[in-house]
Amino acid sequence: MGYRETYAAWQDDPEAFWLKAAEAIDWVEAPTQALFERGDDLFEWFADAKVNGCYNAVDRHVEGGRGDQVAIIHDSPITGTQTKITYADLQTRVASLAGALAAQGVVKGDRVIIYMPMVPEALEAMLACARIGAVHSVVFGGFAANELAVRIDDCAPKAIIAASCGLEPGRVVEYKPLLDGAIELADHKPEVCIVLQRPQHLCELTPGRDLDWHDCQKDVPPAECVPVGGNHPAYILYTSGTTGAPKGVVRHTAGHLVALNWTMKNIYNVDPGDVFWAASDVGWVVGHSYICYGPLIHGNTTVVFEGKPIGTPDAGTFWRIIEEHNVRSFFTAPTAIRAVKREDPKGEYRKKYDLSGLRALYLAGERADPDTIEWAQEILDIPVYDHWWQTETGYTIAGNPAGLEALPVKVGSPTVPMPGYQVEILDEAGHPQKPGELGAIAIKLPLPPGTLPTLWNAEDRFRKSYLTTFPGYYETGDAGMMDEDGYLYIMARTDDVINVAGHRLSTGAMEEVLAGHPDVAECAVVGVSDALKGQSPVGFLCLSNGVNRPHEEITKECVKRIRDQIGPVAAFKQAIVVDRLPKTRSGKILRATMVKIADGQEFKLPATIDDPAILDEIKVALQTIGYAK
Ligand code: COA
Ligand code: AMP
Repeated sequence: MGYRETYAAWQDDPEAFWLKAAEAIDWVEAPTQALFERGDDLFEWFADAKVNGCYNAVDRHVEGGRGDQVAIIHDSPITGTQTKITYADLQTRVASLAGALAAQGVVKGDRVIIYMPMVPEALEAMLACARIGAVHSVVFGGFAANELAVRIDDCAPKAIIAASCGLEPGRVVEYKPLLDGAIELADHKPEVCIVLQRPQHLCELTPGRDLDWHDCQKDVPPAECVPVGGNHPAYILYTSGTTGAPKGVVRHTAGHLVALNWTMKNIYNVDPGDVFWAASDVGWVVGHSYICYGPLIHGNTTVVFEGKPIGTPDAGTFWRIIEEHNVRSFFTAPTAIRAVKREDPKGEYRKKYDLSGLRALYLAGERADPDTIEWAQEILDIPVYDHWWQTETGYTIAGNPAGLEALPVKVGSPTVPMPGYQVEILDEAGHPQKPGELGAIAIKLPLPPGTLPTLWNAEDRFRKSYLTTFPGYYETGDAGMMDEDGYLYIMARTDDVINVAGHRLSTGAMEEVLAGHPDVAECAVVGVSDALKGQSPVGFLCLSNGVNRPHEEITKECVKRIRDQIGPVAAFKQAIVVDRLPKTRSGKILRATMVKIADGQEFKLPATIDDPAILDEIKVALQTIGYAK
């Protein structure tokens, strides 16, 4: 069956479609029903099944004869090391760590925060939690202590698993001070922290709380897989919303197993045994779905890459890894390709490597600009597939189902909705738009298996954020259009979320931090266009009356404040002092207009603007930092 037939088969009988896909999973008790309505637009999938996520990602492959196949390749150009872990090794290592967690009293349903860099142990920690039914929440290493503290308080973990350090080019990121700082800041205190000591930096363990990764595994029995209900949370992953409080996206176990497994062949076109590589980080949803769970559930070999697209050591790193490990499908963010292109526009590095094994490049995480796609297509001479999804969905909403049927690529479009997703473009009143007309992108409920059923401890926020604007639909927060052929185009966010180097960030969260500066009376943060990172945050500060310190001092303090309170990943480097902010008569800050001015784009004077003269002041201020030309 091709794409259209498959999509039609799903539309015809979604339950039968997903029950069929569920046959590829090993159940303790198979589901008898796919969809469970929980009332008021809440849904769950495979709720009556019993299953274990780790068993499906690890043990079943050992039992099925893949024990000697490499499950994880760790390639770290930063440390100059490579490690290969077979499925059999992985089973032993994960069962042992899970045993240590159990010995510390961690049981099914307990939360465990994982704060680790790109080492195989990060995946082992995730799988060890899944093995005993603990709910993990991985926190990206580029976040500051305060962000970690917010997550500790929200999910109240019994344990935290961390490493002594992460490695950024030219910089060792010590995790222990961040971990200690976060625990100090948080009201909730974990009972135990398990710390992996990396040779690049050993940290001092806190007596009575911290245990060494290896020591705590000695003399404890390995843990068996604990069956959990299909609707048992596999993990919570925090993502940026419009306010400073991140949203805890919940992922139920059975749906994510079924859906991720389906995507590996149908979208990424890999067969069990093939090497699949997603160059992202375990702290993001791409890392959860396509560094850890997806490839392992499907019996692939996954690559854990500790490095950057450039500078570790050069712009040929991606191509080296693809050749050396015979990667079949490669997934990264457009930013990473832009970085390589900027460093090596003629693709000289690419010529040094034999990439004949690579079938396709997949891009997601932010808008893929046509220049980047075309450049990659040219130097790689393979299809480049943009695909669109979100932390909330966990996998592709719209993509090119290359394993099912490779559809013609239209550059600028992530192609078509996948089975499970009825995507519609709606106007403000919720009426469907015609092909080619812009609108809010919404998905008809129910969302498919593997997508978020709710937010952790925040059902009201879940409803308000996603279900209220368009009754009967999930509001994606993206705006765009669909053409006559059903191809989707993603144009912009409809909220205050920005995307910096493929990292999803909240301008609202940054504004909360800036507003906390004693000299700042009012502020706005907007995402301006950035040739490398897609967007880059710029802060506008209005100072309190009577403040007459040098502006440069204040802006420097603000930059530091965001780095300290949100983290380096916010990449907040620019703030400017202005007298006033442009607003509507009702007091709404005109952020979209400010972005257009910064980007030097034409814009319509908003009809409701309070005082148009402020826009000129904003333009002049932006010109002082190189924008609004
Ligand atoms: N731990 C600690 N710090 C981190 C970090 C981590 N895991 N990841 C990033 N940072 C830091 C960086 O060191 C940098 O710090 P600096 O301000 O001291 O230089 C800052 O956060 C910003 O990082 P980043 O946005 O990644 O910029 P960069 O200049 O270091 O690298 C790119 C630019 C384009 C090479 C890089 O952003 C990249 O590889 N992007 C791809 C992103 C990606 O894969 N996203 C996943 C979504 S699919
Ligand atoms: P995240 O939750 O971090 O995966 O970010 C999701 C958001 O990133 C989406 O809502 C989009 O705004 C943006 N995004 C992700 N993939 C794409 C894509 N292929 N094209 C355009 N925007 C994308």
